[in-house]
Amino acid sequence: MTHFRRFPVLSIAILLFSPVNLLAEGDVEAGAKVFNKCRACHAIVSPEGDVIEKGGRTGPNLFGLGGRQAGSVEGYRYGKSLVQAGEAGLEWNEESFVAYTADPRAFLREITGDNVAKSKMAFRLKKGAEDVFSFINSVSSDRAAIISSKTD
Ligand code: HEC
Repeated sequence: MTHFRRFPVLSIAILLFSPVNLLAEGDVEAGAKVFNKCRACHAIVSPEGDVIEKGGRTGPNLFGLGGRQAGSVEGYRYGKSLVQAGEAGLEWNEESFVAYTADPRAFLREITGDNVAKSKMAFRLKKGAEDVFSFINSVSSDRAAIISSKTD
């Protein structure tokens, strides 16, 4: 634990984004079913390259989503609006995730204040967003990944 003392900011980040916190609201098992709706476009692949959930590559890898800056998976070609929102401080927590997945384009327009902002994700989730967020976090509970997403 000594290295945590040397990096107090990092240990605070770990506390804030610990899996316990991320798992607070949703039902992981129900979320696993909801994830089937995402699979056409999203996979969950660990930093070591292990495929945790098979899925398409139209959308970015969702591993380690909780606490991650929006639009920040390296090598994925995001739309401009999502990258801008991330650079302006948008991070994926339950609240932002629920609002985004309900209507990505409307969410981006609201958060960027740009009423012609576009989303490359043309899918709206009607229900189960809290559950699927908990599911994604539960299969990403590798602390190393959470830490690297905070320090990149
Ligand atoms: C038809 C394909 C498609 C489906 C289905 C889909 N997505 Fe996406 N998703 C995308 C694309 C494309 C992007 C990139 C958006 C951009 O760059 O504007 C994206 C981006 C995201 C992001 C932002 C990730 C980041 O790195 O910032 C999240 C979160 C997300 N999707 C969650 C979901 C969830 C959860 C589901 C299922 C309920 C889902 N998506 C279903 C295509 C899809």
